[in-house]
Amino acid sequence: MKALIDAARAVRENAYAPYSGYKVGAALLGKSGRIYAGCNFENASFGAGACAERVALGAAIAAGERRFDAICVCGGDLSVTPCGICRQALAEFTNNNNLRVICCAPEGDEVREYTLGELLPFGFTLKA
Ligand code: THU
Repeated sequence: MKALIDAARAVRENAYAPYSGYKVGAALLGKSGRIYAGCNFENASFGAGACAERVALGAAIAAGERRFDAICVCGGDLSVTPCGICRQALAEFTNNNNLRVICCAPEGDEVREYTLGELLPFGFTLKA
């Protein structure tokens, strides 16, 4: 998972977060082995920005990848986890919510790992 963590940390540097000051990087590992990176970007019209996780997800979808093994999220410290909307967005593309969610700080060896199912029990689905 080092490559995934490195990718999340690297793309976090590109985050555009002048309003919150909170930079986030995300790196999504596709079943193909490819990694898709995204960072948050904000806007003077606050609702026009997006979270790092959904930017990474969009990059993956645009590349044709729809199944994933893991996502690494790098925020300001270890307490970062994907927001509720991003959890729901990721759930659309996982089986049984078994996506690994690896959360890390910009530096240090420690990570916190969850499954998407732990973070989003009873997420919305149209499937029976
Ligand atoms: N943010 C993310 O990019 N991912 C998350 O999981 C939580 C929040 C961003 C949105 C906003 O640009 C900033 O962090 C502060 O909320």
